[in-house]
Amino acid sequence: MNPLVKQRQQTQLNFQQGEANIIVGQAEACPLPVEELASLRLDSPYVVETFEDGLTAIVLHLYIHGRHYNLKRKRAQALVHNVDGETSFLNEVQRRRDIQALKDSPRTAKAFAPLVTTLYANYRLGFILSPWIDGKPLASFSREIFRQIFATLFALEQAGLMEWDLCPGNILYDGRNIHLFDFGYMYAYNPLEHYNSDGLASPAFHAAERLETRNVFGYLLRYQDVMSPADQLALFRELKETALDSYTQKLIWLKQNYAQPLIIQWQTEIIERWEYALDNERSLKNLFISESFRSHCLDIADDIHGKSCTTMTLKRIDKVITMLATVFLQLENNGALLFDNATLSQIELIKKYQAYRHLAKQYQQS
Ligand SMILES: Nc1ncnc2c1ncn2[C@@H]1O[C@H](COP(=O)(O)OP(=O)(O)O)[C@@H](O)[C@H]1O
Ligand SMILES: [Mg+2]
Repeated sequence: MNPLVKQRQQTQLNFQQGEANIIVGQAEACPLPVEELASLRLDSPYVVETFEDGLTAIVLHLYIHGRHYNLKRKRAQALVHNVDGETSFLNEVQRRRDIQALKDSPRTAKAFAPLVTTLYANYRLGFILSPWIDGKPLASFSREIFRQIFATLFALEQAGLMEWDLCPGNILYDGRNIHLFDFGYMYAYNPLEHYNSDGLASPAFHAAERLETRNVFGYLLRYQDVMSPADQLALFRELKETALDSYTQKLIWLKQNYAQPLIIQWQTEIIERWEYALDNERSLKNLFISESFRSHCLDIADDIHGKSCTTMTLKRIDKVITMLATVFLQLENNGALLFDNATLSQIELIKKYQAYRHLAKQYQQS
């Protein structure tokens, strides 16, 4: 286990067991007494709708005295399967505190506008209150949407925060702007010394990778029957061009802030790889293949690890098995085989994902 991650988990588990509290904002910002919000029944007339998919919290859409709110409430009994899941509510309250401070500071307020406001949060009372965001999950992507997402992730990284879970349910779009509001898996790190909140252990994880892995390649797989390969590649090009702009700005920022040479080298290599790919259609197709394979493998690993598989997990596994059977050499040559996968032969990999298929069927959640 990564020592940095272990340390963070231990500190959070200790905090959970202790008595110290974290409060964000003022109770006066609440439309009802805090005890009432903490224990509001699901059949209360204030409750417009509920979202009960979360393992550690449930989300209530409230309408009180003419205003819409979001009440995220810790479950009395968490339905968790791992430490990060178990501590995700505490983690979110910690991040709400960090982000609200950045929203309140005039220097960072604008860059943090896409992150939801916390009206009030109280860890021990077990709830977080935010304004309701009038938006919908992204139904499609555009250059402007990618730009907003990468700009927000860059602002977070500059503040030393890494968002891991950019799944479709965690980004809302109001027709003009994107909004982020679920910080259960956003961790603090030092961007000048570390690749991400895993330290120097896994250079594979970064903002564009997270968006591709948790979101965009799932979207492309879901719509593969209605989007032609050319449409898919065009969307991938928009993503990479926008990411390239953002990563180039980040490289400048890293240099201006005396980042470690290793970090500057890592950022430079990512940029060079994308620049090369964007230069001609064939290398872009190659990059598409390796990034899609990498994305599916990482997302499958997350689902299997969290025992939270869906029909999408099965779809991803089938895609991975097909790719292993058809473009294995290309995947191997392009560094798309990560972690344990890099040590396995083609046949071993096919067997591994066939075994995952059985597991994913057992772990079906929806
Ligand atoms: N402030 C908000 N405004 C509007 N919808 C929200 C807001 N916060 C959450 N939601 C909706 O509730 C769902 C679950 O909330 P989220 O914070 O992602 O919880 P979970 O930790 O269970 O994933 C989201 O996918 C989104 O649709
Ligand atoms: Mg969520």
